[in-house]
Amino acid sequence: MLIRYKKTFEKIAMGLLSFMPSEKDLKRLLQTIKQYETEEKWQLFLWKVDEDIIGLLGGVWVDNQTFQIQHISVNPSHRQLGVGKNMVKACKELFPENEVTANDTIKAFLNKCDREEADS
Ligand SMILES: CC(C)(COP(=O)(O)OP(=O)(O)OC[C@H]1O[C@@H](n2cnc3c(N)ncnc32)[C@H](O)[C@@H]1OP(=O)(O)O)[C@@H](O)C(=O)NCCC(=O)NCCS
Repeated sequence: MLIRYKKTFEKIAMGLLSFMPSEKDLKRLLQTIKQYETEEKWQLFLWKVDEDIIGLLGGVWVDNQTFQIQHISVNPSHRQLGVGKNMVKACKELFPENEVTANDTIKAFLNKCDREEADS
């Protein structure tokens, strides 16, 4: 289930964010988490299964209509099990009136999710 980020999840969120190629640098990682904590347009979610947080999805409202995913990451022990795709699906269900897009890094994964959703 997708839950909203809050400060108590900071450490786990930073750990998941650090799997993103763009977030390897600690300074950058701290800037990113601060952006999600302070800027209204930036929204961060975590994927919770039972009591474990195993995934993260974050993005920015680029306009009133469009939520652009900037970060998506799954704990390596839980990859290839559909968590990433389920997070994308849950994000679209959270914003049913809006368009969910992705930045260049995530575009290919989002396209894959869209294709598989269309086929199912
Ligand atoms: C990308 C990521 C979130 C996928 O999470 P996941 O839970 O393993 O994904 P799912 O199990 O839902 O889907 C796996 C499928 O996505 C594909 N996939 C993984 N990364 C992909 C990418 N960057 N582009 C396109 N497809 C990708 C896999 O090959 C697999 O394909 P298959 O279903 O045909 O076997 C995860 O690999 C991750 O955390 N990577 C590190 C963070 C990162 O680099 N994020 C940005 C890249 S999207």
